[in-house]
Amino acid sequence: MAFLPDIVSRQSASSDTTEIIPGLSDGATTEVGRQVRDCLGGTQSCEDNSTKNYTAPGPLGSSECTNDACCVWDYIQRDLVQIFQSLDGTCSRLARSSVRLGFHDAGTWSTTSGYGGADGSLLLSSDEINRFENNGLQQVRSTALGILDSYSQYEIVAADLVQFMHNVATVVCPLGPRIVTLIGLNDSSVANPSGLVPGNNATDGEYLIELFRNKTLKPRDLVALVGAHTVGQQYFVDPSRAGQPLDSTPGVWDVDFYREVTSSNSHPGGFRLSSDEALANTDETSSSFTAFGDRNTGQTVWNAEYATAYVRLSLLGVDNINHLTHCTKVLLDAVTSFSSPSSTPTSPSSSLKILRRISLTSVFAWVALLAPVSLF
Ligand code: HEM
Repeated sequence: MAFLPDIVSRQSASSDTTEIIPGLSDGATTEVGRQVRDCLGGTQSCEDNSTKNYTAPGPLGSSECTNDACCVWDYIQRDLVQIFQSLDGTCSRLARSSVRLGFHDAGTWSTTSGYGGADGSLLLSSDEINRFENNGLQQVRSTALGILDSYSQYEIVAADLVQFMHNVATVVCPLGPRIVTLIGLNDSSVANPSGLVPGNNATDGEYLIELFRNKTLKPRDLVALVGAHTVGQQYFVDPSRAGQPLDSTPGVWDVDFYREVTSSNSHPGGFRLSSDEALANTDETSSSFTAFGDRNTGQTVWNAEYATAYVRLSLLGVDNINHLTHCTKVLLDAVTSFSSPSSTPTSPSSSLKILRRISLTSVFAWVALLAPVSLF
């Protein structure tokens, strides 16, 4: 893993890196435990920008594949890339929903909740998915349940799949981080505690800061995490403007979101969430918007801090960290430079315009590519 001195100095000042992660409260006793401790502590990066040199050792179901815990995830990764990548190289609606899904599954935990967190309950509990804050996640949940079903004989679990989908989505989105990816979480089909994931009625910056503090995430971590809105669209805050993006480049993991939410001019056709505006204008969080939005240094700093904050988020409620398996090696390489095909927001209708511009042959190739996935 790469070593990033600039974030080490900031994060090593914090002393609470492991104490509230139950799986490490008794100490990091294994190699993977020590890696998690070091990445959350800031002495190693939680981003792994190495090049993929992993090849599945055998076909699915073969003994070679079964003996390698990451092998089945390499196959799942291939399926996900097909549905996460758009023709123009940007990431798709299912990719952005998967980023949100990962947060909404893991975010249902607080230091006093007693249970909840990254346990797959958003897929497995039919109550939890129906909460208002989860509006819009039904389609990606169905896709995930289809994958779970399709790979059930290989003993994958929902909790792993949800977080894996998040990490495949961020690296498929151009400029997105290649985040340390751990497999081996435990499932729960019990609906997690309510009130711990904010909905579209959140407008108070101080409230949001407190909500995330209670998940062991500091104000700067919160700002790093909400930067995921760089690939977001809204459908339920104002249904009359459904599909409007939260920044001008919703298929690219760039820092435009931070600059646009703090700009006095709103992006035409774009949508600003009240919660994002509130955080951009709250004393404890506003300077982080400036830091992450910096044209020269913002992307590198943000990607590294997003990865650290997300690894922490994705391990909330997880009590077996020492026994997880590192499968980052199956992820695609990060896309570190990208020219947006258009600065026009990718609303459903503009996606169609992109489709119309391409040749029929490409459309057939695309449909053929998607066919195996739509069978799920
Ligand atoms: C302050 C905390 C947050 C609030 C109040 C918030 C709120 C929202 C709202 C209201 C939407 C629009 C949903 C809709 O109408 O369709 C949304 C979308 C989204 N959120 Fe958040 N969010 C927060 C934090 C996060 C975090 C931490 C992540 C990921 C790590 C995230 C990822 C996303 C993504 C990717 C979308 C777009 C989904 C899509 O385009 O389908 N959000 N969020």
